[in-house]
Order: sequence, then C-alpha cells, then structure tokens
Amino acid sequence: MPDQHSLSTAGLLALDRQHVWHPYGPMPGRQEPLVVASAAGVRLRLGAPAHGREELVDGMSSWWSAIHGYNHPVLNDAVTAQLGRMSHVMFGGLTHEPAVRLAAKLVEITPDGLEHVFLADSGSVSVEVAVKMCLQYWRSAGRSGKTRLLTWRGGYHGDTWQPMAVCDPEGGMHELWSGQLPRQVFADAPPGGFDSPVDPAYTAHLRSLIAAHAHELAAVIVEPVVQGAGGMRFHNPGYLRVLRELCDEYDVLLVLDEIATGFGRTGALFAAGHAGITPDVMCLGKALTGGYLTLSATLCTARVAEGISRGEVPVLAHGPTFMGNPLATAVALASVELLLSQDWAVEVKRIEAGLLEGLAPAAALPGVRDVRVLGAIGVVQLDHEVDMAAATRAAVREGVWLRPFRDLIYTMPPFVTGDADVARICRAVRAAAQEG
Ligand SMILES: Cc1ncc(COP(=O)(O)O)c(C=O)c1O
Repeated sequence: MPDQHSLSTAGLLALDRQHVWHPYGPMPGRQEPLVVASAAGVRLRLGAPAHGREELVDGMSSWWSAIHGYNHPVLNDAVTAQLGRMSHVMFGGLTHEPAVRLAAKLVEITPDGLEHVFLADSGSVSVEVAVKMCLQYWRSAGRSGKTRLLTWRGGYHGDTWQPMAVCDPEGGMHELWSGQLPRQVFADAPPGGFDSPVDPAYTAHLRSLIAAHAHELAAVIVEPVVQGAGGMRFHNPGYLRVLRELCDEYDVLLVLDEIATGFGRTGALFAAGHAGITPDVMCLGKALTGGYLTLSATLCTARVAEGISRGEVPVLAHGPTFMGNPLATAVALASVELLLSQDWAVEVKRIEAGLLEGLAPAAALPGVRDVRVLGAIGVVQLDHEVDMAAATRAAVREGVWLRPFRDLIYTMPPFVTGDADVARICRAVRAAAQEG
C-alpha cells in the first residue's frame, strides 16, 4: 500500500473506486467523487481541478454539520489541546472534564426540563438510544405493551434499524426493508409552510391516530419544524404544540429529533424553541461538534430517567466503546461556546435574507415546483427527479459544492458564509435547477 501522501489524484481515485463504499452508493461506484485536499473557511480545495475550479464554496456544511466553516482556529485549538491530554479513555467507570462540561452546557441551553445526557457516536445511534429510553421507560412502568412509535410521513431519522422504521415508509430506500422493520404508526405528513396556519383537520387527524394507538405507543418521534432528508419540508411549529398536548393527554412520550435543526439552523437555537415546548427526549448530532468529529447526544427529562431507574432493570442498557470521546466532546464544547459567543441569530437572518433574494428567481425557471427558505436553509424543488451528475456539474462550474437528491436542490451554508458567497451559492442552485 503506498503512503497516502504519495498518491496522485488519479491513483487515489482508482483505489477509491476499487475499495471504498460511498454513502448510498453501489460498489464499485458509478460516479467519480471529487477529491478534497484541504478545507478552510467556507472553501473546499480540490486535489485536482474540476470543470475549471480548484476550490468550491461549500453550500452543504458537510450535511448540516460545519456551521463555523473548516479549519477554524478555535476548534483546531480545542482538538489540539485535548490531544495533548488524552484522545480517548473508556467512559465506563471513568469520566472527564470535556464530557461533563459539554453535558452541563447542553442541559443549560436546551429547553427547560431536559436534565440528563447520553453521549453516543452518531445521529442514528442517538435515535436508537432515544427509542430504547422510551421503550424502557414504559417497561419499567409495568406497561410493556407500549412499544410502538408514531411519526408523520416525510421524515428521516437515520439509517440504523429503529431510525429506518420511522423514516418515510414510501420515499427513499427504507422501503427496501419494510417487511423486516418494526411496524410503526404513520400519520400523514404535516401540511407544508412555516407560516401556513395550523390546519384543524390535520390536528384532528393526529388526535384520532394518537387516541386510537395510545395503549401501544411508547412515543411520538418527529423532526421539529424542518423535515430534512425526507423531503426538505417546513411546517408550522404549532403542530409541535399540538403533539405536546396530545402526548400529555394520552400518556405518550414525545421525542424531538433535532439532529439537523439543532444549533441555530432554523433561526432558533433549537427548533423546539419556535414552539416553546420541551420534549421528553431530544436527539442532537451533526453541528454539535461544528462538523469536526462524529458525536451525538440524547437528552431526557428527569421523569424519563427516574422512570427507567425504577424498573426491574434500573439501568439504561447502552454503552458505546467511544462514548463521550474526549476529542469529540472537547471540540463540541468549543463549538457550542463559539456559537453562543457570537450573534449567531443575526448571521442566520443575514443568510436567510441572501437566500430569499438569490433563490427567488428560481421560481420562474421551467421545471421548478417550489422555492422555500427558512433560516440558513434554501430549497428549490423540481417537478422531476434531479439529474444529479448534471446538477452537480452545473454547481461546480459556478464554483460551489451542492449535493442534490430526489427532486431537491438545496443548500445549508456554514453560518460564516459571506454575502458574496451566499449569492454565489444561489447562482449555483439556479444553474443546477436549470441543468438538472
Ligand atoms: C433528522 C436526522 N436524524 C438523524 C440523522 C442521522 O444522523 P447520522 O447520519 O449522524 O447517523 C440525520 C442525518 O441526516 C438527520 O437529518
């Protein structure tokens, strides 16, 4: 095996094609990935020019995570300082300052009432843990029939087993496993539009489903305000208040998956804040570390933790090897503190204004069904499946990295993206919509 630094871009791509799976890809891959040599600020520097570009403005924040951009001195320092102390120790029987301080900080900034934090490795695992907490809570309460989950259609919660079972049952590739996955209860997708009034007919639909299944429901789990990879749809936060009330009325737990929406993306620090509610369990990930390392957190209320502790098995039976990893928790703490040290809401508003202005003309393009913006998220929905290769090429020609899927060309730039780069991203989204 050659030393990694001695590989030419062509050699690296050949090995990549031979050995490496990429997300949602066949083996060997059919589309050649771009090689990134380094990244700084909002720019990805390519190993070899692509369509005349040596660097690309990142319109994706590496799938919602790199909110501060790349190679940030504060985050670099946090990792380097922690590396000098220890990169990892097990979390069973041991603890350390970065994990403890991070947990305390998350409790402080998330909705009131979330008190306890379980640290895990990825968003999907945090959803697994959330589901396990809810099932175990009811088992401990002697109500072991409450094992099912209710969600609304159009969701995405990750690719491991429990999360897949609550992803949209029709869209995406989770259909593939529909015979094997636990059968959950699906409500219709929430009516679209952050500002659209709450629809009483939809509220009644939620009520009747929750009432009918309450005896077997452990929890309702949804993505608050923005459904991400299930379709990039926005809904009125009022539906979250409705869910909170219904869950209280029918004795069902409420889980909010804030893995994509957490840390300011929608204009509120957490999307639950748009509704002013506290869930029983909340999942965080992605931007938690500013995109530096993989880490997730599942938070719960004292009621949930105490309920589990009262059971026959009074422990939460989960313990990943890399739980509370010191490097990841140190950089997460630095990232959260960096976010809170700035007027992040003003930056998100600024980006929202730039996206609104720059994407508006896309509405007039042929083949465009809808254009929508919320916080630092911009979406152009086509009336057809996007030609991913053509759309990507069009964006790269404009000097921008985008990763469209299904009928969606979308962007969620780092919060440090300047106005000129936001405008450039919008040009790229329009070009991708035209050519894709
Ligand atoms: C809302 C939501 N939940 C869960 C996940 C899964 O997170 P991960 O990819 O870190 O497992 C994602 C990832 O896109 C997500 O957007």
